[in-house]
Amino acid sequence: MTRNEQPMIGESPAFLEVLEQVSKAAAMSRPVLVVGERGSGKELIAERLHFLSPRWDQPLVKLNCAAISESLLESELFGHEAGAFTDATQRRTGRFEAADGGSLFLDELASTTMAVQEKILRVIEYGRFERLGSSRTLQVDVRLIGAANVDLPELAAQGRFRSDLLDRLAFDVITLPPLRARSADILPLAEHFAMRISRELGRSLFAGFSPQAIQQLLSHGWPGNVRELRNVVERAVYRHDEPEEPLDALSFDPFESPWRPGQDGHDAGHEPRLPDLREQPIDLRGYLDNQEKKLAEQALSITRGQKQAAERLGLSYDQFRGILRKHGLTGR
Ligand SMILES: Nc1ncnc2c1ncn2[C@@H]1O[C@H](COP(=O)(O)OP(=O)(O)O)[C@@H](O)[C@H]1O
Ligand SMILES: [Mg+2]
Repeated sequence: MTRNEQPMIGESPAFLEVLEQVSKAAAMSRPVLVVGERGSGKELIAERLHFLSPRWDQPLVKLNCAAISESLLESELFGHEAGAFTDATQRRTGRFEAADGGSLFLDELASTTMAVQEKILRVIEYGRFERLGSSRTLQVDVRLIGAANVDLPELAAQGRFRSDLLDRLAFDVITLPPLRARSADILPLAEHFAMRISRELGRSLFAGFSPQAIQQLLSHGWPGNVRELRNVVERAVYRHDEPEEPLDALSFDPFESPWRPGQDGHDAGHEPRLPDLREQPIDLRGYLDNQEKKLAEQALSITRGQKQAAERLGLSYDQFRGILRKHGLTGR
């Protein structure tokens, strides 16, 4: 992937500020941390950091730490000698070696073990490491660019991420605001993705978005950020049968269908949909509190009084009153 194929789109003040920070950080060989929600553009920022740096003509090596099993990650990063473990039939160079002289982008750093984190710290500090199964110390010059979509200081406070590595990585932290916090970028990005896929489809033009579609784009919350926006726009353009007409309706959920399994309440029973922790960490207490409040409100709305509502929830009247007070629902 070259720079030319992936232009960076964005003109919101928050985004321009990030770009400025990137230009400054690029000049340094220090480690840098890119933080942001999934799909917010962390990988693109990492590429920019590399290509604007003095290392631009050296390798940029990427690895997603969450995509690889714990046991393989170490050999993936540091390499191994033949016979280092059962499946290691040949010597293998690791990503740190491959990135020598250039940059190494480690995505989803939070999913590494403390043991791996310790080794990474050593490479950052001294440029030194050993291949698995070897006692020979290798020396490399690698600029580390880490990315995370979780709160690393919080993990460190819980003892699940090494504080010393975090301190070292945090020389410069680039925080990408989520798309919903930079609404000035939504339409330029949407136009960009629409034109790009129109070209791919061999259409000579893109007729733009209707006022209704623009309204939809601007009022959506974009939990999946730029990646979600790209998918929504590309799908809409691709499904659009009259390319001469402006795009009118957008569908945000590709699984939307009356036949979706579980939609009729029979297939999947009445299992509530749980948040997917692989995508995002949650605040369990806050989540449960919120569910409690919603159910209390629902109970009130479908019954004729607090006593009945309490029964619906299997609570005593006093317990239910306590919940109403906690959520400020007593005035109803
Ligand atoms: N500012 C931007 N301009 C153009 N494309 C972007 C921008 N930010 C993100 N993208 C695109 O959105 C998708 C997700 O970005 P990516 O960098 O992979 O996000 P993350 O690594 O944070 O999950 C990619 O296809 C990327 O090219
Ligand atoms: Mg990514």
